[in-house]
Parts: sequence; structure tokens; C-alpha cells
Amino acid sequence: MATETKEAQATLSAAYPRSARINARGAIEVGGCDLGQLARELGTPAYVVDEQDLRSRARAYLDAAQRVGLPEVAVAFAAKAFPCTAVLELFAAEGLWCDVASGGELALALAAGFPAQRVILHGNAKSRPELERALEAAIGLIVIDNFDEIARLGELVGRRSDGEQQRVLIRATPDVAGQTHAKISTGQADSKFGFALEDVPAAIEAVRATPGLQLRGLHAHIGSQILSLEPFGAIAEALAPFAPMPVWDLGGGLGVAYSADQQPPAISDHVATLAASAREQLGEHELLLLEPGRALVANGCVTIYTVESVKRNVSLYVAVDGGMSDNLRPMLYGARYEAALVERPGGECECVVAGKHCESGDIIVPHARLAEPRAGDILCTPATGAYTFAMANNYNGALRPPVIFCAEGTARVVCRRETEQDLLARDVR
Ligand code: LLP
Repeated sequence: MATETKEAQATLSAAYPRSARINARGAIEVGGCDLGQLARELGTPAYVVDEQDLRSRARAYLDAAQRVGLPEVAVAFAAKAFPCTAVLELFAAEGLWCDVASGGELALALAAGFPAQRVILHGNAKSRPELERALEAAIGLIVIDNFDEIARLGELVGRRSDGEQQRVLIRATPDVAGQTHAKISTGQADSKFGFALEDVPAAIEAVRATPGLQLRGLHAHIGSQILSLEPFGAIAEALAPFAPMPVWDLGGGLGVAYSADQQPPAISDHVATLAASAREQLGEHELLLLEPGRALVANGCVTIYTVESVKRNVSLYVAVDGGMSDNLRPMLYGARYEAALVERPGGECECVVAGKHCESGDIIVPHARLAEPRAGDILCTPATGAYTFAMANNYNGALRPPVIFCAEGTARVVCRRETEQDLLARDVR
């Protein structure tokens, strides 16, 4: 056993789920399930989730929040990162709150069992039906993004007969650059999200003047996949002119390791930094909210594929049975992933792991090192829990992959693979 563990540590980087190891057969396993066997039993492509990994990261957040003591820190899972009901149920059971960004995510969060009071609704273009649904469900907080929304929400709460007030936050654009990819940086001044800092006082006044709305505090989110703590400390500083407020929501954004060379800050340090900056900059408050998405789910999942062909066209192309339909991130953001053959991890053969879609840009890993790949091999890419299932699509008629939870050697499908009937299901004849 001891040698196996050592070998696993030598071969599998921090990008893999916590339980990932190389078993006696020399194959990668996750949650005690052999990925090669899993592929043969349940098919590929598939998202394989280490259930315990997700739980342990939720607990890392909650433990760190507990250590902060008072004022209370609550942790909301950003549902957009992995909007699979079973994932939401797991985090609801762990005691997290839930951040949703649309009516659809709101429906998922409620169906997964989050108490409505622990749900926070975001969005820069919330529709009337979305707001109505949020009021009807009596969710904890609505995060107001713009003046039109104050008017729309004011009108809707004005019609209520129960006299209940809706608690709201105001989203500010803090002018703190997230130091990340431009497409996922949200805190800069020229952004489609939130109120410009100079408009925040007028927004506060407008909300306070609206009967039926109760202003609880402010929110800012600076971006995603942020690998240093420094920009996080700056959020509270930017919001300080609006203190005191009972509630501060400082968003998500903590980065993760997609490959061996990336070293994200620890969850505990992330929480401690935000809590300390809130205490120093924002003075007395009742509640600090954090909204991690990626940091809770990215590393707990690997995607498994079958290699369909291997050929040399200058580069050695290893083509698999998935691609931009199950992981859009390499194409959208130039995101980097690792790859390994699950039954022969390691190896030095330089190759390009390509998807099956009709686009030259459908490359999953441009510089992979594999052990002599052959058609029929099972290949995995680790750290695919965040924004992959979430952004999966049916390009080229691809059937979106299942989600398989693995724990203690048992695998269970928690979201089935799409079928051709699903592709036809919306047709009206
Ligand atoms: N809170 C708010 C208001 C957000 O907009 C987001 C993410 C989060 C929390 C969670 O951020 P996280 O902890 O996951 O960084 N599709 C992109 C990421 C988009 C993030 C959108 N907002 C990607 O694949 O990298």
C-alpha cells in the first residue's frame, strides 16, 4: 500500500481529486473506482466525481469560516460552476448557501433542497419572471445590479399584500482588476456588472426609498481563477466608503491548480484574508458572505474519454470521443489541462489531445505527454469539475456526458448521458 501511495504522488499532480491514486493494476482510480473499468462499464466521455473531495473542500471552507469566529462567515456555492442537482444536493447537505445567477439555477437550487433563505440571486439582466419567482420563493437575498432593476423590483414588491420586505444587496463594480483572463475578469471599472462606484450612493438612496425593499449591504466579485491573495484584500478597501452595512458579500474567484506548476492559495488563507480585510476595512457587520464556485468543484472531477485515433500530421494527434462539447474552456479561454492514459499513466510521448468536433481549434490539451497512445486507450483530463458540465453543449449532435459519483469503490450515475431522443425532445411537429 505504502509504495502504491508513493507512486501515485509521484505521478498524479495536485490537479487530480484528493482520492486519486494509481492502483495495483497500474491504473488511475478515483474514489476507489478504477477509471479504465468505469469507462468500459459506463461508457465515455464521462465526468467522474470524487464525492468525498467535494465534501472535503466544502468542509475546508466551513472550518475556516468557523475559525474566523464573529462576525459570522457564510459560504455560498456558486451554482454556475457545476449546476448538477446531485452536486447541489451535496453542498446543501454540507450546510452551504447557494449563489444562483438565473431563474433556471434558482429552480435547481430549490429542487436540490437549499433553504430559500440561504439562496442569493445574482444577474445583470434579471427578467420580471425571474424576480417574481425569487419573491415568491422568499429567497434570502437579491443582489441588485442596476437602476432599472430597482424600479422593476420596486414595482413587484409594491404589489405584495403580505407586507414582507425583500432583503437585497447592491452590487458595486469595485475597480479592482482580478489579475486573470480578460473574459473572466469582472471587477474592472468598465464592466457590465454592478454599479460604478460613483453611482453606489444614488443606488443606496434609491433602494432605501423603495418600500418593500430592505438594504442589507453590498456585494462585489472581481473575477475568477485568481491565483494570488492580493486582489482579494483590495475588495473590502474599495467598498469601505459605504460602511457600515450589516452584510458584505465579497464574491468568489479563488483559483485552482489545473497543472502541476499552478499553486493556488489555500482555502483557509482565502477565507482568512477576506475576513481580516472585512474586519479592518468595513468595521462592524453581522455577516460576511463568500461565493466560491471553482475552488469547491474543479479538482474533484476528471473527464474520461476513449482514444479513437492516433496519427501524425507534423504533430502527433490523439483524437478522443469528446472535446469542446464537454469542455469549452480550452477554446474560450485558452485554459490548460493535463492528460494521462488511465491504464498507463506517465510517459514522454509529445502529443496533441484533440476533440472530435469540426473545428481546428477543438484541442483539449495542446502539449500532452502520454505513454505511446493507441486507439482504444482510455484517457483522462483532471480538474474538470468547474464550468465544463456547466457549459457543455450539443455541437455536432454531441450527447452531453453523464456525471458519475465515486466513493469508497462504488460508482453511481447521478446524471445520465443524453440520448438521441433528448436531441429530438424539443421538436414541435
Ligand atoms: N460570484 C459571482 C457573482 C460570480 O459571477 C461568480 C463567477 C462566482 C461567484 C464564482 O466564481 P469562482 O469562485 O468560480 O471563480 N466560465 C468561466 C468562469 C466564469 C465565472 C463567472 N462568475 C470559466 O470557465 O473560467
